[in-house]
Amino acid sequence: MSDSEEDHASGDRLGTPTAVTLRASQADDPHMRDAARYPRRVELIVALFFIAGIAGVCAFGAAYVENAGTQVYGATLFIGLFCLGFGLTAWGKYLMPQGPFVEERHSLASGEQAREALAAALVERTGIVVKRRKVLGGLLVTGMGIFGIVAAFPLIRSLGPRPRSSLFVTNWKKGSLLVSQTGRPVHRTDMQVGGILTVFPKGKQSTPTAQAVDQTVLIRVQSTELVTMKGRGDWAPDGYVAYSKVCTHLGCPVGLYEQEFELLVCPCHQSMFNVRDGAFPVFGPAPRPLPQLPIYFDSTGFLRARAPYNQPVGPGFWERTTEGNGKASAT
Ligand code: FES
Repeated sequence: MSDSEEDHASGDRLGTPTAVTLRASQADDPHMRDAARYPRRVELIVALFFIAGIAGVCAFGAAYVENAGTQVYGATLFIGLFCLGFGLTAWGKYLMPQGPFVEERHSLASGEQAREALAAALVERTGIVVKRRKVLGGLLVTGMGIFGIVAAFPLIRSLGPRPRSSLFVTNWKKGSLLVSQTGRPVHRTDMQVGGILTVFPKGKQSTPTAQAVDQTVLIRVQSTELVTMKGRGDWAPDGYVAYSKVCTHLGCPVGLYEQEFELLVCPCHQSMFNVRDGAFPVFGPAPRPLPQLPIYFDSTGFLRARAPYNQPVGPGFWERTTEGNGKASAT
């Protein structure tokens, strides 16, 4: 037998264990034995906990889809995570080799052959540990994988529904009847000069999702025709003028009317809009005027919309997003 063959079989001259000697001593190595007295039984218990954990995580996902309530979310998530964690801890405590692991060596500098042999032995030992618990490993990976998928559910739902085109269009259409929040149509004789009323398109006044963008302030500024801007000659009959109630700064409802100065005031950051001048902002952070709704009296004397808003209502965001895409932009 050559020197190298001899080394390979029983260790090098420095006494460092090689792959062969390690493999031979594995059966007798107390550190490589399971810590549990009855490993099969423990294996079964760990598997049961993993299965319970998977069931708990799946139940959490189903509860979330069904909107079953926070108590059910908490209970199912607790069961899932507790069982997976318990199984993992028991596996590590009773079925994995326990230390201390000590490798006796005479010198820190090993030869090339010894290093290769040690690397092979490490790979082999690790492989044995993993291979021995294939089922448990599969269950653990399945449980953690399902938990990862289920954990994404709240993130998706918390973003809320997609706004789609509702941010760009309102329910105001040509001919929409102006009604108060109680659904009462507004007649020519209903308001005095200086009066203010929040109106909606008929049929949409009690729809919570529509109210935000549809809400419109109707003000009677004078008793004769009013022209708020060039090109809006027939938009404000008998001094009735209608503007979007959604502030162009951050979207608060512009609900205050300073009658003496004919200013609409936003209570959030005190933006003021000149009612006679196309709701142009004269004070505060609002970047553009409130969109004006063109209105007219029908043959019975009730107010109707002449057309929808000619631009998106609300904060200045719309100005930036509508630029260059063919949609209406701020005036
Ligand atoms: Fe109206 Fe800021 S939201 S001024």
